[in-house]
Amino acid sequence: MEEVQIRDKKFKVFLPEEQVLARVQEIADQISRDLAGKKPLLIVVLNGAFIFAADLMRRLSLSCEISFVRMSSYVGTSSTGLVKQLIGLKEDIEGREVIIVEDIVDSGLTMQELLAILSAKHPKAIHIASLLVKPGNLKVGLDIEYCCFKIPNDFIVGYGLDYEGEGRNLRSIYVISEDGATD
Ligand code: IMP
Ligand code: MG
Repeated sequence: MEEVQIRDKKFKVFLPEEQVLARVQEIADQISRDLAGKKPLLIVVLNGAFIFAADLMRRLSLSCEISFVRMSSYVGTSSTGLVKQLIGLKEDIEGREVIIVEDIVDSGLTMQELLAILSAKHPKAIHIASLLVKPGNLKVGLDIEYCCFKIPNDFIVGYGLDYEGEGRNLRSIYVISEDGATD
């Protein structure tokens, strides 16, 4: 089994590139059917979702636009904990069909905050497309309409996802090897 070393950890292939791309095609077909006749705006959460977004958008058979945003890592505190801020959205989304494109939903807290921020701008609808979801870690209820793969709670890199900034260029999706696990 092919293993790669990234910094101090070893990773092995979990989802080969062909399997990822086949599933991205299925999700793209589903979105194209569901939103036929509409002109959605893809809102891509940087950095991790950039490769998924490029592959997904090229496979959509409908007119669509794209915008890239970032959730700041930390702004301040509130009774609910850390508060993040949305950076980079220039488009007016009022009345529009929006698709949030994410790399991974882990606890779901980032997605929950993003949904709250975008909902306040009165889009017609917000859909979620996430490459990966870790259902075992979800702390909030989310309707993830378009999920490519549900995965266990292990740490993943590749296809846009990183470990301390590295590994995003791996073409397949890799999981941390048991002997390289952090805990
Ligand atoms: P959440 O707010 O816990 O859902 O955090 C989601 C973010 O955590 C993602 O956008 C990733 O940046 C990061 N993340 C969560 N799990 C992984 C993983 O397995 N590999 C790489 N990044 C991850
Ligand atoms: Mg992300």
